Amino acid sequence: AKYLVFQIINNLWLHPLSKYPGPLLWRAFRFPFLLSMVRGNLPHQIKSFHEKYGDIIRVAPDELSFIVPEAWRDIYSKGREFVRPDQFKDQPPGKTAANLIACSEPEHARLRKILAPGFSEKYAMEQEPFIQSYNDQSSAVDVVEWINYLAFDVIGDLTWGSSFGCLDGLTYHPWVQTVGQFKAAIVVGALKFYPLVYSFLMASTPPSALQAVMDMWKLTEQNVRERVAGGASRPDLVGTMMASESMTQEEMEVNSMLIVAAGSESVTTVLTGVINHLLRSPDKLNTLVEKLRTTFPSSEQDITGSALKSLPYLDGVLNEGMRLCPTIPDGMRRNIPAGGATIAGQFVPGGMVVSVPPFATYRASRNFSHPTEFAPERWLSDEASSSKFKDDSKIAFNPFSLGAHNCPGQNLAWLELRIILARLLWRYDLSIPPGVDLPRWEEQGIWWFWDKQPTMVRFRKFR
Ligand code: HEM
Repeated sequence: AKYLVFQIINNLWLHPLSKYPGPLLWRAFRFPFLLSMVRGNLPHQIKSFHEKYGDIIRVAPDELSFIVPEAWRDIYSKGREFVRPDQFKDQPPGKTAANLIACSEPEHARLRKILAPGFSEKYAMEQEPFIQSYNDQSSAVDVVEWINYLAFDVIGDLTWGSSFGCLDGLTYHPWVQTVGQFKAAIVVGALKFYPLVYSFLMASTPPSALQAVMDMWKLTEQNVRERVAGGASRPDLVGTMMASESMTQEEMEVNSMLIVAAGSESVTTVLTGVINHLLRSPDKLNTLVEKLRTTFPSSEQDITGSALKSLPYLDGVLNEGMRLCPTIPDGMRRNIPAGGATIAGQFVPGGMVVSVPPFATYRASRNFSHPTEFAPERWLSDEASSSKFKDDSKIAFNPFSLGAHNCPGQNLAWLELRIILARLLWRYDLSIPPGVDLPRWEEQGIWWFWDKQPTMVRFRKFR
């Protein structure tokens, strides 16, 4: 009890971060933060704390959250000194090979270098035919499900050269379902703050509880092995890994798995978020549909990645989707290196945890005018569209993060997002079925990713 009292006194009054505002219990203990995280509520609460306490707040005894645009640069693009805290690194069960999220900085640099050619813009162009081919199929009711199938089929093909066949069977593949179990994963993550409880729980978990994850592993192994045995000459990411001749089989597997998970969830979030917002603003939907159907008057085959690059309104819609529905809504936490660092003008001592929370930052009126409005025009450069949004702070918006750990899949992401949305809207008239209430995006729970609720949409073939 004495220790507890000392800790509370220390955290509230003597701690180097004690001058920063924040809710009392959160400043005194780590526990409220973890409870909120496990309940799928953390980014929402951090957003409301920023609204109440200001731009720089304390959300745990040793942790600050910044919605100041300059904090992006100061935290994420200062070389490799700011590392992800151990509690937020995840090593899949039974695997020890280096993966991009859980490895050391030198290993990370090595893996990113090997993968770089496979994520280049040129390579993405070579992969375009594979993306296009999945868009030829369609049938939809719940767009969350349908786009998730599509995104998984595409990323399987682009990673190890064979799709999951979700669209063919119109059902989730076991792999896809397992990746969806983020809720359990986040409880495990929270427990890492209490090492004793964590090791007890891990030791007493029956192997059957891990069965689904193990099945997924077997399938990943099999896909990667088949791809390796099949030999070179296909523009996919395992091909890129093979070409380097310096990755072990297990490294190829763990990183393929990470790429498939990162590349499917993100695309699904942005596209369902965009469709949800477009359906709520029919005038924006009409503007985009008009632009698509007049730019491509005759054939769907003309809708290529390179042609779509010259449609700024489409990119405006997608950027606005990533602003309001960021795929990683919670802050990507980093440790301040020994010796401390200055973040947005504030000196923060070494060992503290810092981040920029995208959900709170992108909806803060200090950064964006009319922050909750879905306004693709804010991203256009012409005078008439942008004057209402002239005070927007574009540098506050970094959907793919910055620096050494940013998203390597950006070229592929843009290609997929543009092609899927453009072809869908070119071919179908979308509307809300009578009696259906679309989910309110910002009210959905967040367990690392948005807990996307079914989004029923009516598709009528335009031609
Ligand atoms: C809308 C689409 C996407 C968005 C908004 C997005 C965003 C991000 C962000 C913010 C990160 C940094 C995560 C962190 O620091 O914790 C990241 C990492 C990553 N993304 Fe993406 N991503 C998208 C699509 C993709 C695609 C299509 C792929 C693969 C083909 C991909 C592969 C990865 C990988 C492998 C990482 C880990 C990189 C590392 O730690 O070095 N992403 N992404």
